[in-house]
Amino acid sequence: MRLDLDSEEAAFGGASIDRNGVPITDDVVAQAKGVDAVLMGAVGGPQWAKVPRENRPEAGLLRLRKDMQVFANLRPALCFDALADASPLKRDLVAGLDIVIVRELTGGVYFGAPRGIETLDNGERRGVDTQIYTTSEIHRVARVAFELARRRRGLVHSAEKSNVMESGLLWREEVTALHAAEYTDVSLEHILADNCAMQLVKAPKQFDVILTDNLFGDLLSDEAAMLTGSIGLLPSAALGAPGKPGLYEPVHGSAPDIAGRGLANPLAAILSLEMALRLSLNMPNEADRLADAVKSALNAGARTADLGGKLSTRRMGDAVIAAL
Ligand code: IPM
Ligand code: MG
Repeated sequence: MRLDLDSEEAAFGGASIDRNGVPITDDVVAQAKGVDAVLMGAVGGPQWAKVPRENRPEAGLLRLRKDMQVFANLRPALCFDALADASPLKRDLVAGLDIVIVRELTGGVYFGAPRGIETLDNGERRGVDTQIYTTSEIHRVARVAFELARRRRGLVHSAEKSNVMESGLLWREEVTALHAAEYTDVSLEHILADNCAMQLVKAPKQFDVILTDNLFGDLLSDEAAMLTGSIGLLPSAALGAPGKPGLYEPVHGSAPDIAGRGLANPLAAILSLEMALRLSLNMPNEADRLADAVKSALNAGARTADLGGKLSTRRMGDAVIAAL
């Protein structure tokens, strides 16, 4: 298989801090906005923990998401048959699991103002974050979830805390309105986010697409990741308006505790490329072949340490290439 693709590399996160003092430069942001797809490595590590907050790797990630306007984050949790026993949950709960979390990615409490830490007159300190959503922000991400469900099993669960949060109530009302106006062929269920967390471990296969906000999506997607056996398997896609470049990244972090030892599972990164081929590069056949190669490698017993195996990062990559 030969991919007819051009690629460019750019420094991001710690690599950019070391070189430029900032986690991402204006030039790299502009470069990212000018390509078809961005495939990102995980960022962060203890050597940058003392960098001022606005220059940490995480700040660069949030800026890239915001500037690329990739408001819909697709985080699939797919349980490969060969790995159903690697999940901490019982095999029959997760075998065949295939769900996608659609996480709002450029709004909510991650970006809401006011925010900050202040000292009050009485000497106490006060930390403030603001959860905030508007109609259009809710509609555009809900639309992605409904469209996705149409191509899958036709079911969307919308998760929020409308029982305590105003923004959650707005979320529920706006998702209901959009559904009634344009997506009555898709089934819509509302679920409180805490119950969603519980149901995800109790009976995960009841879900198809879970639509939720930025913060709840962060939490629920880590939980969903563990259902599949290892967070080292999970890719993600962040999409903006049609025709705009997508941002593809593994769900996992940079795992500084195992850095440089050849222990990391490369499959989440490989599957992120698969999503890019499918969703931004219009190469569905190539995407299918890559996905099949990952499955064959797993079926043949290829396992990195996170899955209880002995293969190094490089050998796992070789196993996928051999299957390809
Ligand atoms: C994720 C990560 C990020 C987030 C961090 C690194 C800023 O946890 O992509 O899930 O909270 O969005
Ligand atoms: Mg997270």
